[in-house]
Amino acid sequence: SMVEKAGHKHFMAKEIHEQPGAVGLVVARNVSADRSRIASPADALPWDRISRLMLIACGTASYAGHIAKYWFEGLAGIPVELDIASEFRYRDHPLLGDEAAVFISQSGETADTLAALRHVTGRVQATAAVVNVVESSIAREAGIVLPILAGPEIGVASTKAFTCQLATLAAAAILAARMRGRLDKAAEARMVAEYIELPRLLTLALEDEARVAGIAQDIAAAQDVLYLGRGPMFPIALEGALKLKEISYIHAEGYASGELKHGPIALVDESVPVIVMAPRDALFEKTVSNMQEVMARGGRVVLVSDAAGIEAAGDGVWRTIRMPDCAPWLAPVLYAVPAQLLAYHAALAKGTDVDQPRNLAKSVTVE
Ligand code: G6P
Repeated sequence: SMVEKAGHKHFMAKEIHEQPGAVGLVVARNVSADRSRIASPADALPWDRISRLMLIACGTASYAGHIAKYWFEGLAGIPVELDIASEFRYRDHPLLGDEAAVFISQSGETADTLAALRHVTGRVQATAAVVNVVESSIAREAGIVLPILAGPEIGVASTKAFTCQLATLAAAAILAARMRGRLDKAAEARMVAEYIELPRLLTLALEDEARVAGIAQDIAAAQDVLYLGRGPMFPIALEGALKLKEISYIHAEGYASGELKHGPIALVDESVPVIVMAPRDALFEKTVSNMQEVMARGGRVVLVSDAAGIEAAGDGVWRTIRMPDCAPWLAPVLYAVPAQLLAYHAALAKGTDVDQPRNLAKSVTVE
């Protein structure tokens, strides 16, 4: 009913709009009372004694892991291997024995993720579960639990669980950086100050919904859509494409911007919207040149960027979505929002069943 959906048409819309509050709870639970440092249950992991970190998940949760890989490598200097659970469990994987393995799952019941956890239990130094449902099998069997505190997520396509997974993993990465001696007190306090801005920034990211909905109307008419991103925005490109496929049934592919030349550019013509996720960070100029290659072939670029990025991109961009300025390392959390909104409004335009898309299940408990 509309009551359960708090006045929204769909659970997905409700859950998208719950993100500032949900992420706000994660932030509140993961920083010290004086807001100077991270305080996360991830401190039970032996961060200073692991040779590498393994991140294992399925679907949207695996894209959260993919973004976290940039954080754990870049902030904490830990070599990270990211695996899709269904691949990991059947691969011959030489384990050193001193790894930590982190399993990310909204439901905590995904069959492949649970099997992958069982596969490494006793063969690595530590295991952890980043879960929403803390009474789940994965939470029970993992060594430690990092709850994402998202509250019930009903829409099949994951939204608030994704940003709460990201906020949980971001805190863990800062903590790991401190425990590995890579972050002094002042640097940690600066990162925490950026981190606690997330709820406010998410609120701003949700403000432009009407404009995003208008762009989604145009995208709904497309047969194929490309999503591009570089660095930590690459997994957001993958997530944007997955969301579009899942609920609007539009064929979409996410690519690392630098891979454009190695295949997907062959698909580009006037009929293919190319959504570019590109805050004005250190990689921005490179992404702009990829964008120009798309525009030179008649491709319609939707640029999702901050004010400086939109200004710098100049003419020729078909549509823009303006995001608030933020610390570059946190941009993926914010840029998840337009990816969700574009998929949601494209699905509305097409009249698909947003909360119960065909052939999909909320939790895949069989192989
Ligand atoms: C299904 C859902 C996705 C989810 C994936 C992993 O495919 O439709 O939204 O990302 O399972 O689920 P989990 O509960 O393990 O995060």
